[in-house]
Amino acid sequence: MKRITVPEILARKRATPIVVLTCYTAPMARILDSHVDILLVGDSLGMVVYGMDSTLGVTLDMMIVHGRAVAKEAKHALVVIDLPFGSYQESHEQAFAACARVMNETGAHAVKLEGGVEMQSTIRFLVERGIPVMGHVGLMPQRVHSMGGYKYQGRNEDEANAILQDALAVQEAGAFSMVIEGVKEDVARNITSQLRVPSIGIGASPACDGQVLVVDDMLGLSGSGYTPSFVKHYAHLSQIIEQAVKTYGEEVRNRTFPSAEYCFPFKKKS
Ligand code: KIV
Repeated sequence: MKRITVPEILARKRATPIVVLTCYTAPMARILDSHVDILLVGDSLGMVVYGMDSTLGVTLDMMIVHGRAVAKEAKHALVVIDLPFGSYQESHEQAFAACARVMNETGAHAVKLEGGVEMQSTIRFLVERGIPVMGHVGLMPQRVHSMGGYKYQGRNEDEANAILQDALAVQEAGAFSMVIEGVKEDVARNITSQLRVPSIGIGASPACDGQVLVVDDMLGLSGSGYTPSFVKHYAHLSQIIEQAVKTYGEEVRNRTFPSAEYCFPFKKKS
């Protein structure tokens, strides 16, 4: 299967919408790969996989372990890995070193980092050195405390204009696309119309050039009972898993598992 490339994603501006899902493990990468354009190894893995309260505790080592597992299995999708909090904000050199580790040690194709105007020179530094960068503006989860929580952004003219300036700065720095997260629909629509590079929306607008969701959220896999209001459940897998585990428990307890066909020498299953 042919690999999707960074220039192909760039060329999808105002074309067929770009399909993106987060992915953190090899088995999920095998299932998703042929159905999406981009697999994003998001630092949301801190909350989704490790049960953290925010993404702030995620380390570069964690991103690399999960990124490697996903990149190994992805034969079609472009694999993008999030730079975690604290791995790129200090200096251009620190950001480059983090990217070099990600690219060397995982086999991924691009990185994503959060920030707007203030990250412009860092993104430019990385892009000039051959690292494809996806930006991330609007609601930036790594700034949850300074933003006062996971709040929708762009609720007044000043906020809307600040997000637009962020998006333009990220584009001018050379990012090949950017996530617009948790932004009022009309604001995301306007930003998308002003950009030359594709926007990937989450809690944003159908006008974005692509959409991303956290895979466990859209599959109903979290089991926590909480779903962000912008998430559509395409399945309710936690219920299916719970039922399967309940049945397994019953069969172990009443000794109907393992039946003869699952014991050596194995009989042909009917
Ligand atoms: O970390 C993540 O999964 C993300 C997406 C939600 C865009 O940044």
